[in-house]
Amino acid sequence: MSPTICLIPGDGIGQEVIPETARVLAHLCPDITFTQANAGWETFERTGSALPQATLARAAQADAILFGATQSPTDGRKTGYASPILALRQHFDLYANLRPTIALLPGQPPVDLLIVRENSEGLYIREEESDGETAIARRRITRRASQRTARVALEHARARRGRLTIIHKANVLPLTDGLFRRAALEVAEDYPDVQMEDMLVDAAAMWLVKDPARFDVLVAPNLYGDILSDLAAGLVGGLGLAPSANIGDNRVAVFEPVHGSAPDIAGQGVANPTAALLSGAMALEHLGRVEEARRLRIAIYAALQSAPLPADLGGNASTIEFTETVIHAL
Ligand code: NAI
Ligand code: MG
Repeated sequence: MSPTICLIPGDGIGQEVIPETARVLAHLCPDITFTQANAGWETFERTGSALPQATLARAAQADAILFGATQSPTDGRKTGYASPILALRQHFDLYANLRPTIALLPGQPPVDLLIVRENSEGLYIREEESDGETAIARRRITRRASQRTARVALEHARARRGRLTIIHKANVLPLTDGLFRRAALEVAEDYPDVQMEDMLVDAAAMWLVKDPARFDVLVAPNLYGDILSDLAAGLVGGLGLAPSANIGDNRVAVFEPVHGSAPDIAGQGVANPTAALLSGAMALEHLGRVEEARRLRIAIYAALQSAPLPADLGGNASTIEFTETVIHAL
């Protein structure tokens, strides 16, 4: 069956790395159909909606969505702008965010870990209030969301090296983080073959820097997962290399580089496409194109061992030149 991927490049460098990724995927799998849809700040300014209904409709018809990045104003309330990626995650109930970190560059420590981030609640319910002097954010943790995220993490741990670390701060937040931790431990009873540990989020930050090779899979509430996954990306060369997947129980899943729209380099043609390309490899796996995904990964690794590298890795390759190196390696 010929699958459909919906491209949502978004803003800034999303518009540079997503078309290049589509070019590579089309080269690998000529039978894939690509559709295109709009989201983000530019779309909001033009249409009044950051995620138009037409985009949701097109996305719903696809087997996978490849999302670039969007630009968010720091104070969205002033304009009514709402982050499209958060809305997409909610709309399609993509409750788990997979963020793998693998050392790909020569001379790096042997990092190969996966952060599974709860993707639907925590502080991201965005219930804030303020009287100008005191500001309060509500944070929701549910057993259901924690358990289903933990199950995804445990399945991955089982398929990998069989270790799972539960990240929390239950010493300070015994009700919310305590529930997250307990819920994960409950599901872990179904996985006696997975070795469990739990760790406070601050200690996890330290161990990720000091000895990242000790980790296999980590499962974390939304904000901790967001922060620790950027930290992990920093260990192996930065956001230009970090892919992610947003998955749920349905067919539709959203694949996106972890990075944002990078306004400081947007429009210059120098963004590193690797994070988007690796997200494309995750999309291929989701579509059952496991062999093509493997070939793409090998080609990306080969391109990263050769010169020239993209600017964020100290080289002078443009986005297009680096993509050409990957296609050549394929
Ligand atoms: P960012 O990820 O856009 O950039 C952080 C730094 O990393 C910048 O110096 C940038 O140049 C560099 N960088 C990121 N990706 C790169 C790549 N592929 N190649 C080379 N260098 C790269 O994060 P920042 O600056 O905090 O946010 C910029 C905008 O992006 C904001 O409006 C933010 O809200 C939005 N954002 C959107 C996300 C999404 O759509 N999922 C995720 C993160 C941020
Ligand atoms: Mg982030």
